[in-house]
Amino acid sequence: MEIMLIVGYAAAAALIVAYVVAVRARSSRLVRGALVAASVIALIRVAGAGYLWWINWAAAADVVMVALPAVVAAVLLAPPRGSVARWRLRTAVLAAVLQGYATFVPQAPPYLTTVEVMAAVLLLGGALARWWEHRLAGPPRRGRTAGLIAAIVLLVASGTAGAWAVSKLPERASMMDHGNLDYGGRSDVSAHAAMQHPHAASPAVDISTLTGPQGEPDRRITLTAETAKVKLPSGETVEAWTFNGTLPGPELRLKQGELVEVTLVNKDIPAGVTLHWHGLDVPNAEDGVAGLTQDAVQPGGRHVYRFVPQQVGSFWYHSHQQSDAQVKRGLLGALVVEPADGPVSGVDVTAIAHAYPVGDGRVTAFSLGGATPSSRVSRKAVKPGTPVRLRLVNADNEARGYSLAGAPFRVSAIDGTDLTGASDITGKSLFVAGGGRYDLTFTMPDGPVQLAITEDENGDGSAAILLSPDGAGEVRTITPGPTLDPTSYGSAAQTPFGARSDFDRQFTMLLSQGFGFYDGQFLLKRTINGALFPDVPSLVVRKGDLVKVTFLNRSFSEHPMHLHGHHMLVLSRNGTPSTGSPWWTDTLQVSPGESYEVAFRADKPGLWMDHCHNLEHAAQGMTMHLMYEGYTTPYLVGDATGNNPE
Ligand code: C2O
Ligand code: CU
Repeated sequence: MEIMLIVGYAAAAALIVAYVVAVRARSSRLVRGALVAASVIALIRVAGAGYLWWINWAAAADVVMVALPAVVAAVLLAPPRGSVARWRLRTAVLAAVLQGYATFVPQAPPYLTTVEVMAAVLLLGGALARWWEHRLAGPPRRGRTAGLIAAIVLLVASGTAGAWAVSKLPERASMMDHGNLDYGGRSDVSAHAAMQHPHAASPAVDISTLTGPQGEPDRRITLTAETAKVKLPSGETVEAWTFNGTLPGPELRLKQGELVEVTLVNKDIPAGVTLHWHGLDVPNAEDGVAGLTQDAVQPGGRHVYRFVPQQVGSFWYHSHQQSDAQVKRGLLGALVVEPADGPVSGVDVTAIAHAYPVGDGRVTAFSLGGATPSSRVSRKAVKPGTPVRLRLVNADNEARGYSLAGAPFRVSAIDGTDLTGASDITGKSLFVAGGGRYDLTFTMPDGPVQLAITEDENGDGSAAILLSPDGAGEVRTITPGPTLDPTSYGSAAQTPFGARSDFDRQFTMLLSQGFGFYDGQFLLKRTINGALFPDVPSLVVRKGDLVKVTFLNRSFSEHPMHLHGHHMLVLSRNGTPSTGSPWWTDTLQVSPGESYEVAFRADKPGLWMDHCHNLEHAAQGMTMHLMYEGYTTPYLVGDATGNNPE
């Protein structure tokens, strides 16, 4: 898909060159051809914007208002048939400027209105054309043209070098130093001042004090991060980074309400590690984000986490230091919180899907019940009639499609929260976000039940789980059915707030893309509200606020948006209100062209990460924060600090 973007840029560049060459070359056939081709591509862009508009006006607004008029104007400025010779230079330059602008300025900067941007571009283009025409008047002089070309090359080169330099991330910085803050429609200067100046009336709270309870823990766990060579039962060898030498890390089974103490020891992971409890809403200081809630634990060091799990359900844990690289190599594990009273009945087993690095590539494998993952079939014997809960964890960057065949089943929980009125499903596939969890429940039939991955970038579909009465049997090919839609699955129930509530703050997160520099690297930037970390405006809230967030994805990529410390209630998708079970999520897959409205109560003071859980995207800046007014962190990020959370 991203190839389309490259084609778009290339076409625009061709059009710009063609406009300029057209004037010098007069009636060359080649020039006409280039103009026609580029104009066709421009029309495709118009169609693309129209499609975006059709899906969601808000996602298309700036494309339609800022870029599209320029594209259309550029096309209309093309020379009339047979009169290339009379086509004025002024017009050509103007067309080139418009086209370039439409391509490289897809969004109006927040401090300018659309009209201001359009006016500036038209004025600049017009002035440039006039000036050049003036210079070229009279007998053609080679020296002048060469000089002009040199000037343009210099301008573009210095602009590029500047963009490269500006994109470099600071060696050390506080995640508080954003400059950009989004108050969600409320600005409260005094509270802001208190946050920025700790000496003001109410001093800012240091989030490193927001720890879990003291006292004698009910459960003590030690997780040691260490390198290990792990051979998978399916034959591959993984040069892994592990917890306690196993892949994935040990499955943690905790009880609701108990005081848990986890000691993280780093034996030999060079860049340091942390532990983040994905989906478990722990106190801010226990959240395990390097450079925000703690320093990364360097080799030889240790860190103690203490918390009391309040939620019952399926979660997972992973390192949040260089998380993209570290999670890929295996610093992850399943985390299940069981009800305080009584054991879980029947078969209750986790299934973690993840793509592990093998050689130069990656191989998708399932870990059943914490066992060493296999890229083939993982089998387990289950007596017919047994109630089964399969806790599916997608621990990978990309969303995957899953299919369960052999028994009617229910999706009993998503992201660690039970669904109400979950009904039996057959022949539907499940689309699980990167980082998301689905609990599948069913009664074991007389025959085999299989869970297959039916949509996956890194596997050939041979990783599967097979439950059968005798623990044997072969998998069969499953044709994926239509995807289950959580917004209409299950039955509606009372929620503490909903679409018609009065919101204290409302935010929009526009997920988009474009080429550019990030930390000195030229790449496809995946932006939030037009910016990358640390420039993405932080969402600022106050304790107790009811917050609404609208996600709009107009990029070509899937973005699983993960908010730490809170669960978001999905209100609507693509403008259609949720009608099924209340759907509380911590990792929401927002697909290209989709929009979601979600709401949450800001009741967990502190500073929280809010990022795309495609950790590659996060490492490339698709990261921001939810900041409570009046809270501050003593930790720093950047190469000089040893803290690089993504
Ligand atoms: Cu699963 Cu910020 O992470
Ligand atoms: Cu993403």
